[in-house]
Amino acid sequence: EPIYLITPTYARFTQKADMTRLLYTLMHVESLHWIIIEDHDEKTELITKFIERIPTDIQVTHLNMKTPPMDKLASDDPSWLKPRGVQQRNAAIEFLIKHYQESPEGYVYFLDDDNTYDIRIFDEIRKIEEDQVGVWPVGIVGKLRYEGPVCSNGEVTSWFTAWKPDRPFPIDMAGFAVRLENFLGSPEARFKQRVPRGYQESHILTELGLDRTNAVGLANNCRDVLVWHTRTEKPRMDAEEKLMKATGAASDLSIEV
Ligand code: UGA
Ligand code: MN
Repeated sequence: EPIYLITPTYARFTQKADMTRLLYTLMHVESLHWIIIEDHDEKTELITKFIERIPTDIQVTHLNMKTPPMDKLASDDPSWLKPRGVQQRNAAIEFLIKHYQESPEGYVYFLDDDNTYDIRIFDEIRKIEEDQVGVWPVGIVGKLRYEGPVCSNGEVTSWFTAWKPDRPFPIDMAGFAVRLENFLGSPEARFKQRVPRGYQESHILTELGLDRTNAVGLANNCRDVLVWHTRTEKPRMDAEEKLMKATGAASDLSIEV
């Protein structure tokens, strides 16, 4: 059964590098359908060309949905100020609901374009049964070495987190997956721009009619970290400006990076 992977992505200096790294992980996995949603008012040339080079055994859907200016994080805002990827993930959910009513088999997993994934996580996702939410620890997140469920015999006995432990699901976006049936059965379920900080994951799972009793602990009883919340450092570009000032020309903009 396919795993539908939902990845919002936006233009920045490291976008192609991050997406390339993620693609090269996904190329080792069978039966994937990668939904890439650009945070842009149109499909960009960079991502269009990137997608053309993806081997055909990965199914790809290319969408775009621009975050309205009022909801967009400014480059000097702290990253926690506004949730990211909300409208893009919703566009992907709408795509799934529209196209898969007749073939509801499969799984849904939300991937950041800059996280790091061990390919074994996809085998874990394929173990999820109806009305279960598969959960597992995520590495390097929440100012901890890892954060996530604590399990015994696949049953979640508690949740290890240092932050807002009373959230319905105190986990990161990379720490859960569900079956597609859940989205088809709750066709109104959407991410919301305005939920309290850290409640995005809890919000969508609650909208899907799931609570902690539906959680099943995967990844070796929640003892294997197979996903890391890595974040790509924002590169400095000071030398571009310096060169421009000194010589009137900086790097060749026709060279795609
Ligand atoms: C953490 C979680 O890992 C995200 O899944 C969650 O969406 C985010 O917090 C949040 O609070 O909303 P973090 O690494 O801080 O993630 O976020 P980013 O990686 O910057 O963004 C998450 C996804 O949204 C990425 O795939 C990114 O490319 C995309 N994004 C980000 C956009 O589409 N537009 C933006 O303006 C920013
Ligand atoms: Mn990220």
